[in-house]
Formats: sequence, C-alpha cells, structure tokens
Amino acid sequence: MPTVRDIRAKAGTAPITMLTAYDAPTAAIVDDAGIDMILVGDSMGNAVLGYDSTLPVTVDEVASRTGAVSRGAEDALVVADLPFLGFGFDEKTAVENAGRMLKEEGANAVKIESGTHTIELTETLTRLGIPVMAHLGLTPQHVNELGYARQGTSQEAADEMLDLARKHAEAGAFSLVLEHVPANLAATITEELDIPTIGIGAGPHTDGQVLVINDAVGLGEWSPSFAKQFGDVRSEMERAVGAFRDEVESGEFPAREHSHVEEELDGVY
Ligand code: KIV
Repeated sequence: MPTVRDIRAKAGTAPITMLTAYDAPTAAIVDDAGIDMILVGDSMGNAVLGYDSTLPVTVDEVASRTGAVSRGAEDALVVADLPFLGFGFDEKTAVENAGRMLKEEGANAVKIESGTHTIELTETLTRLGIPVMAHLGLTPQHVNELGYARQGTSQEAADEMLDLARKHAEAGAFSLVLEHVPANLAATITEELDIPTIGIGAGPHTDGQVLVINDAVGLGEWSPSFAKQFGDVRSEMERAVGAFRDEVESGEFPAREHSHVEEELDGVY
C-alpha cells in the first residue's frame, strides 16, 4: 500500500503525478497507468454531478465516490477532498468527516482547501494519523469571495501565500496543491518547502502536476486554459452512443451473436 512517505520521498527524484477520478473503472485506468495519486476532488460537482460549482457537493457524495475509487485502485494513493463546509467551522466535525474517508471509504489522505483557518486543523488531523494535502491559490470553495481568477499576483498576496504554505508544511501537511498561481511564485514556494508541491496552472517548477480527469481525457464541454487535453473521450463516446442508436433503429443490433434461443421452451416463439 502506498504511503504519504513514498510520495514525499519521490519529490526531487521524479515528477509526481496526480489525476482526479470519481468512480471505480476510471480509478482502475488511472491506477494501471502508474499515476502516483488519485484525488477524489470536489471538482466532482462540476465534472460528474451536474452542479454549477463545487459548493453543493456533500460529505456523503465525496464519501460514496471515495469508496468507489478506493475499490478501483490498487497502487495509487487515494486522496479524498473535504467539501465546502465539511470542515472549517468546528474541529470535531472536520475530524469526523476526514476520519470517515479513511476509516470507512479506504482513502489514504484528505485534501483541504487551505487558509489561516486550516493550520490548526492540519496539525490535529496529522497527529491523529490522517495525512493532509493542503491547497492554496485558486480555491474554488471561495468562489463567492475570489471568483475563479489567478491568485498570488500581487506582492502582498504572494508573500501571504508563501507564509501560509510554510505554516501548513510546519503543521504537518504532506504535500501542497498550488492552483492557478504564477509559475515564478510556485517555483519559489517549491524551493522553500520540504514537502512536495503539486501544481495545476502553476507552471513547470512544482514537484508534481495534477489535472481533473475530464480535462485530461477530453470528456468535458469546457476546460480551463491551463489544462491540456491528452485525449478526445467525448468524441469517442458520442460516436459510440450514436452508433448504438443507429443500429437499434435499423435492427442491426442485437445480432445473432448477442442473442440466445432456448430450443426446449414450449409455448414461446
Ligand atoms: O477538486 C479538485 O479536483 C481539485 C484539483 C483541481 C486540485 O481541487
């Protein structure tokens, strides 16, 4: 079983890879490809649950999806994202929600969109044996405050992010996601910390890279400018679905090889 120590040990020796997944078959594909970590991100809100943002995603939804991903993955480290208001207002609830992901759903760690309010929580969870991946920069759970804009673009904001990054590393976070921040700021934070940084829209100088699976394989209708599409799964699904419709309508499917006739049955055709 992978551990967060394995991930920390990989930093500086080879780039760390992480993709999101929200179901068992996708997790198995990601796992078979040798991806280091699978994030059961609250991006599931937009990616698979049909919400407009990540805000409606519930702890139950993340838990159910985390269980599916854990069952589909063998080698990758599974990280469950704590959704909006699943942490941050009282420590007991946060510990229970985070603990549930490991205890009941098979996750190896949790991710928390971070700020000053999550330093103590990071320390508590780490002490209890719940490894924490911190997350700074664009934090979509704060969309009503910050929108989806690039973060850390002013000197003050960059200094504040570096300070928060240090504090989360000191509190015990085993890694840090940096989302949609200037590449030079991500490079500095990476240099300053002794935990791995995982970038998304943060340039090439982080210890690893993460993408939302829908963006990486080309499943969604839209993807952010910093994402790269490595495949065109949507076109292939559209082709297959269209072919199914056409063959059912034309009578071509199901063919003889898809059917079974029981000769011994009486009173049926
Ligand atoms: O929810 C998510 O998928 C994330 C990644 C984009 C890092 O937070």
